[in-house]
Amino acid sequence: MITLTVCNHKGGTGKTTTSINLSAALALGGYKVLVVDLDPQGFLTRMMGQPEPEVSASSLMLFEQELGVKPPIIQLPTFDLIPSSPALSTAQRRLTKPTDVLWAKEYIQSEIKGYDVVVLDTAAAVTVYSLNALVASDLVVIPVLPEYQPVIGAEQTYQTVKMVQKKLNPGLTVCRFLFTMVDGRKRNHLAYRKYLREKYGEDVLNGIIRTCTTLSVSSRDGRTVYDSNPTARGAIDYANLADEVISYFNLEESQVSGPSSHAGPLYS
Ligand SMILES: Nc1ncnc2c1ncn2[C@@H]1O[C@H](COP(=O)(O)OP(=O)(O)OP(=O)(O)O)[C@@H](O)[C@H]1O
Ligand SMILES: [Mg+2]
Repeated sequence: MITLTVCNHKGGTGKTTTSINLSAALALGGYKVLVVDLDPQGFLTRMMGQPEPEVSASSLMLFEQELGVKPPIIQLPTFDLIPSSPALSTAQRRLTKPTDVLWAKEYIQSEIKGYDVVVLDTAAAVTVYSLNALVASDLVVIPVLPEYQPVIGAEQTYQTVKMVQKKLNPGLTVCRFLFTMVDGRKRNHLAYRKYLREKYGEDVLNGIIRTCTTLSVSSRDGRTVYDSNPTARGAIDYANLADEVISYFNLEESQVSGPSSHAGPLYS
């Protein structure tokens, strides 16, 4: 099982869209995927058509393990979900001990069984939840818009990831920038990609996510891009991203359920 965090301290860079559609692409590729919404705003939970859960049925329970309550896992058509609750917001005031960054890792290792990939969606800030996500992860994807401020924000996020890797989680072996909402006709978009490539080399994913209206529309009504239009640019781009992610970890076929009839590249 691998754990993958999608994070960027900057807002609106495509984190939740990436969490949803990368997870869907992995699931359609035959992998069993669990998504944990760690953003107190709970947009992923809402975008997947889920109502606000009881606190005891939310991802907050990962951080309140002394209560001994395991949030039920919601089975969506493509992947499974532990939803977020606004209670995460107030609870973070209590999570101030140095060891409070270890809860998610502990929960995933001891309680989450039967998945190939766990995807953690995070808020646009350095919070105890995003640090927990980094401490629990093998792989981090930093979605970045090819514009000035988002690129600076992504570089700052990269530094945070590297610090967590060094001090808290040597198992976090892969950290990659992912360009999102790319418009190939814009010269500055190409220039920012070149800039990050020259500075960070292979830590910039080959795959990019192009601007795609279907991605923004489908995320509003509980569907993934594969439900709305599997031939949309966004569907193809996230399938290619899933292939790239899988290639890092030799997840050749589902280690949980065996190869499914969907296994293999979605698009070749
Ligand atoms: N490739 C894309 N093409 C077009 N629109 C996109 C694309 N990716 C994301 N969007 C849109 O951009 C907006 C921000 O995306 P998203 O919510 O995924 O970002 P986020 O980083 O999770 O935001 P936040 O920091 O608020 O959590 C949304 O309206 C989403 O539909
Ligand atoms: Mg989000």
